[in-house]
Amino acid sequence: MRRSEPLDLRNLALTPDLHSYLLTQGRMTPDPLLEELIDRTCALVPDQAHMVVAPEEGALLTFLVRLLGARDIVEVGTFTGYSALCLARGLPAGGSITTCDVSAEWTALAREFWTRAGIADRIRLRLGPALETLRALPPEPHLDLAFIDADKPGYIGYWEELVPRLRPGGLLLVDNTLFSGQVIEDEPGEKAAAVHAFNEHARRDDRVQMVMLPIADGLTMARRLPPARLPAPPGPA
Ligand SMILES: C[S@@+](CC[C@H](N)C(=O)[O-])C[C@H]1O[C@@H](n2cnc3c(N)ncnc32)[C@H](O)[C@@H]1O
Repeated sequence: MRRSEPLDLRNLALTPDLHSYLLTQGRMTPDPLLEELIDRTCALVPDQAHMVVAPEEGALLTFLVRLLGARDIVEVGTFTGYSALCLARGLPAGGSITTCDVSAEWTALAREFWTRAGIADRIRLRLGPALETLRALPPEPHLDLAFIDADKPGYIGYWEELVPRLRPGGLLLVDNTLFSGQVIEDEPGEKAAAVHAFNEHARRDDRVQMVMLPIADGLTMARRLPPARLPAPPGPA
């Protein structure tokens, strides 16, 4: 892409103070329950707590669920339940989320907070490899929204299971697609290389319309297009 220096000014680097301003002015500051979930996650797994989605991303998830009127959601990567809680808060009565993880320990904390938030009845937790859980879902297009936020080498497989299950207009969100900026390194690590391979895969998929946002660690949003129309059968001239 051609670069023009004056236009680079539009790309903002967020300082901690500006990030704090963004959360306040955008009304995206986590409420006390979400704050407590972050604290408990930091206490349980200090070296993994960064895996929780950023507060502005959590707020965006709730917003998008409401915007779409989503009722049927799948999440890949539950961890301690923050993003599932944000998704569930956007659901109308009768809506539900299936969320996948392999850790009974981390998701036990999730269950505790879903119960306290009063949304546990909207969330179905499936413990086991996510690819197996996704393959067991009904094959027809029925999902309103899906969110991928798990092991990076699995992303292409999750995408391939989820795209055909999205209803036309349904939304597929994929987290960490800038991977701390490592996706453009000459010799990226294994995870960054997997994310880059996924990005290339998604970029070439004409079943979806997509945008990629520099929010948090990078968020790809893909909207399922209606299946290509077949040419009209030949009729009377
Ligand atoms: C980045 S964390 C998810 C964070 C979560 N969305 C949140 O906001 O708190 C990734 C999760 O994916 C799970 N995971 C890793 N490999 C998996 C697999 N093959 N199947 C299902 N879950 C997996 C991990 O156990 C971890 O909890």
